[in-house]
Amino acid sequence: MHREVVNAGIVGIGACAPDRVLTNADLEQLVDTSDEWIFSRSGIRERRITGPEQATSDLASIAAGRALADAGIKPEEVDLVIVATNTPDMLMPATACLVQDRIGIKKKAGAFDLAAGCTGFVHALAVGSQFIAAGTCRTVLVIGAETLSKMVNWEDRSTCVLFGDGAGAVVLRPVPAGSGILAFKLYSDGAFGHHLFIPAGGSRRPATRETLDNKLHFLQMNGREVFKFAVRVMGEAAEEVLAEAGLNKSDVDFFIPHQANIRIIKPAAKRLGIPMEKVLVNVDRYGNTSTASIPLALEEAVRGGRIKSGYHVVMVGFGAGLTWGSVALKW
Ligand code: UT7
Repeated sequence: MHREVVNAGIVGIGACAPDRVLTNADLEQLVDTSDEWIFSRSGIRERRITGPEQATSDLASIAAGRALADAGIKPEEVDLVIVATNTPDMLMPATACLVQDRIGIKKKAGAFDLAAGCTGFVHALAVGSQFIAAGTCRTVLVIGAETLSKMVNWEDRSTCVLFGDGAGAVVLRPVPAGSGILAFKLYSDGAFGHHLFIPAGGSRRPATRETLDNKLHFLQMNGREVFKFAVRVMGEAAEEVLAEAGLNKSDVDFFIPHQANIRIIKPAAKRLGIPMEKVLVNVDRYGNTSTASIPLALEEAVRGGRIKSGYHVVMVGFGAGLTWGSVALKW
């Protein structure tokens, strides 16, 4: 499989985090929690939060504009926009269409959203790379964007302290064989979907007075179960994508895991034998930004000069579905 996607690579990257910082101390004023509990259980110190005026497409459009500028590519050159999100502006139309319009991409570009929980960005990279490998598209914009602050119950301390808002975008183009996306692996186990979900607002339980009163439009999570699952699958997904790409653990120059919890990231790095200096960690400053977490981290690593040309980078995500997945690429 990796032979087909070998020619799609990231040629531009951009990110956007809202200005407003919500610290653990701020949360102590909202719910019965403490900085000590949040930091020791998750590694989070603060997160970025949008105001009422900002929605997911706003963050996505800014990140996308920055990625295009970074690539030196004009909006009208984009053939396809994929937005991975769990927090679309609306159930319809797709947030990708709002972004397409906002950033002035030519009207004939395709645009759709992709839902795969927090693994959405990994899935979107895989999907986008296939359009390039097939020769159907030359320029694909892949975005992970979230405003989870709008979907958490601010009275539920077990979830509201964990999530944050943000967006990251990459531009995919054909690149020389042997570089770019070398392999990907995508997985799901829907039998465990009830561990992380938003119960109402879809066709199963449309909005009613009762669903509103019972706060069923907010995210619900069995954190302990998701934690156990994540620790089990992260290392495995990384090992399998390395094998698919024909690489060894010792070939990995940089590891970008989904930023949900430092206590999930560290065991995954350990299993891969990667020292923490080669792992991007920003969960302390952004919390869990779901589909935005990997591109936000990647952007930070690239900007900071920590990822250099020729580096082998492995990204691994997990989340609602349950889904998980990995990508191996040569920068
Ligand atoms: O992107 C994928 C999305 N989700 C995740 O990645 C989340 C994965 N799970 C986790 O990261 C961890 O399970 C959490 C950080 C959510 C929780 O850590 P934990 O070590 O698994 O704690 P726990 O759920 O076992 O809860 C321990 C205690 C409970 O009290 P009791 O029942 O032991 O008396 C909770 O009620 O901590 C309590 N608790 C809190 N206390 C203070 C839960 N939330 C809080 C809070 N502040 N915010």
